[in-house]
Amino acid sequence: MSDIEQLEKDLLAKIGAADTGAALEEVRVAALGKKGVVSERMKTLGKMSPEERKEMGPALNGLKTRIADAIETKKTELEAAALDARLASEKVDVTLPVRPEPKGKIHPVSQVTEEIIAIFSAMGFDVAEGPDIEDDFHNFTALNFPPDHPAREMHDTFFFEPKEDGERMVLRTHTSPVQIRTMMNEKPPIRIIIPGRTFRCDSDQTHTPMFHQVEGLVIDKETHMGHLKGTLQAFVKTFFELDDVKTRFRPHFFPFTEPSAEMDVQYERVGNEVRFGQGDKWMEILGCGMVHPNVLRNCGLDPDEYQGFAFGMGVDRLAMLKYGIPDLRDFFAADARWLEHYGFDAADQPSLWAGLSK
Ligand code: PHE
Repeated sequence: MSDIEQLEKDLLAKIGAADTGAALEEVRVAALGKKGVVSERMKTLGKMSPEERKEMGPALNGLKTRIADAIETKKTELEAAALDARLASEKVDVTLPVRPEPKGKIHPVSQVTEEIIAIFSAMGFDVAEGPDIEDDFHNFTALNFPPDHPAREMHDTFFFEPKEDGERMVLRTHTSPVQIRTMMNEKPPIRIIIPGRTFRCDSDQTHTPMFHQVEGLVIDKETHMGHLKGTLQAFVKTFFELDDVKTRFRPHFFPFTEPSAEMDVQYERVGNEVRFGQGDKWMEILGCGMVHPNVLRNCGLDPDEYQGFAFGMGVDRLAMLKYGIPDLRDFFAADARWLEHYGFDAADQPSLWAGLSK
């Protein structure tokens, strides 16, 4: 066997034995690289006599071509094998669930609160909060409830035991005390909504001792009833996701607003279902009014310079109405099956651009 034949045999054996791309590349460099054995042999051609070269030239070129071909073939084989291995190891069982079912739902009260926040945020309102345990001043007095006025009783207030100085703290009966806290601490213009828990000693199908409100407050120069009506009309339309819905403002009384009104929304009952935006019945959904001059004064604002409007709505009731939930008491029964049915997925973040509840 000539030494070229021997060399070819050795190289082919090495190529055959290379079991990874890296090993094969090593063999290639050792044979065909700049200093590889085959390349070194090629360099010797230049020093040969013409006769010798005539014989060795084709032999060495043939060797070079066959080795390069063998490497290429082996390379393709190795790549195919690597792909097969990967396909086998990364096999996906399409019958498996994508991932475990997420557990837990967003409570309708939280969801509806977020919906209301989304709507008013888009109108330029900020969110403000205040304490659940209030003093008499913020919950009543500053809101223009006269001392010993029956309105204090009207609220079915939960009182704490009197403190040493005789003052009785209360569980706030509404979110309106946060109006006072905001007006005393911030300079107008003010445009806030106040979501929060409220408490009254009351319990039946549509009342629970703890419930939720969202309050609204706007204070500026030259604010009037038209702004109030426009804001609330726009809110209702967006909240119930209707193109059109009639609203009606009915005179009412609150100590802290003057004039005061309750806003009714047009609806119709079809079977057990309440449908808004149609029919000729009216349902009260919130209280509102122009902030009473006494309230402005109590907060150090001059009623001749500033006016404003306020409104307050029951979140739980709005959730019942919008999502057809029959009994308010179930909201707080901590029943996982109820939440599974009426709750929302964590990914369903309410926003105006994606559709409020879609
Ligand atoms: N605080 C009132 C209530 O709880 C609602 C309300 C808020 C009315 C603001 C007018 C203005 O009944």
